[in-house]
Amino acid sequence: MEAVIRAVDLTKDFTDFWGRPKNRALDRLNLEVHPGEVFGLLGPNGSGKTTSMKLFLGLLYPSSGHAFILGRDPTDIDAKQHIGFLPEESYLYRFLNAEETLDFYGRLFNLPRKVRQRRTEELLRLVGLYDVRKRRLREYSKGMARRIGFAQALINDPQLVILDEPTSGLDPIVSRQLKDLIADLRQRGKTILMSSHLLADIEDVCDRIAILHLGILRKVGTVKELLKVAELQQITVKNLSPEAKAELEQVVARAGATVTSIENPSETLENLFLKTIRESQGGQRQDLGAR
Ligand SMILES: Nc1ncnc2c1ncn2[C@@H]1O[C@H](COP(=O)(O)OP(=O)(O)OP(=O)(O)O)[C@@H](O)[C@H]1O
Ligand SMILES: [Mg+2]
Repeated sequence: MEAVIRAVDLTKDFTDFWGRPKNRALDRLNLEVHPGEVFGLLGPNGSGKTTSMKLFLGLLYPSSGHAFILGRDPTDIDAKQHIGFLPEESYLYRFLNAEETLDFYGRLFNLPRKVRQRRTEELLRLVGLYDVRKRRLREYSKGMARRIGFAQALINDPQLVILDEPTSGLDPIVSRQLKDLIADLRQRGKTILMSSHLLADIEDVCDRIAILHLGILRKVGTVKELLKVAELQQITVKNLSPEAKAELEQVVARAGATVTSIENPSETLENLFLKTIRESQGGQRQDLGAR
């Protein structure tokens, strides 16, 4: 199956006013996001999450290497038709209401009026803004603004949805609702790339994650794989008597206890994250963020 997103040695150097290289925001990223998966980009501030998303969206040009979206160059107009994007900060017209906003974005994608009307209503219901659809966005709370941003990202019924910090600054209830929406999109076969600082959010919804630090990919894999502590095994037993417990090492097999599972215990994503960043700093305690 063809990857929905593919990065090959993808590198971005930002230059100063004189065109001299200033900093490397992304360093030879190699990554594939497969159809139908929810992929999480994790990393401290300034680690290159937004930069990689912008490269995938064709909003930035790589300094070297390549990005492919649905097998095409990110600047390809046809590819853009199939991508939805929720930026870190939504730039929405404050004087439009929710309905007008979605209609406006629908026009940008040249959707016929009938389709725009249908999608607008569906999406407003989906993100729970239908009842306030006539209210101007400047009167929206942060959570409401994030939801309309989310709906805007879906107006073209995209195959690939890129969400930059979808849950930042949201209360736990709205954040849960957005995570349910992400799970819902996945059910419908969409591919999702999202970034977050909130480790629990990533752990909740992502099939695979990548951890970036200082523009370098440090870890990639399924959440389960990454959190598995390989050198330990965990045995869960049922109906174990106190006597049998004392003899556990020798007797598990003949104690009459039922072994229900033998597996590797997990560490928390928080531990893995901090450990990864520390390792990539060579064990030194530094600022977790940008160089
Ligand atoms: N337009 C720009 N010009 C110069 N440097 C930039 C520019 N945009 C980003 N950078 C730098 O690139 C690096 C990565 O930034 P990026 O925005 O990708 O980080 P991020 O992982 O999204 O961080 P955050 O979690 O804070 O959103 C940072 O060092 C940042 O200063
Ligand atoms: Mg960012």
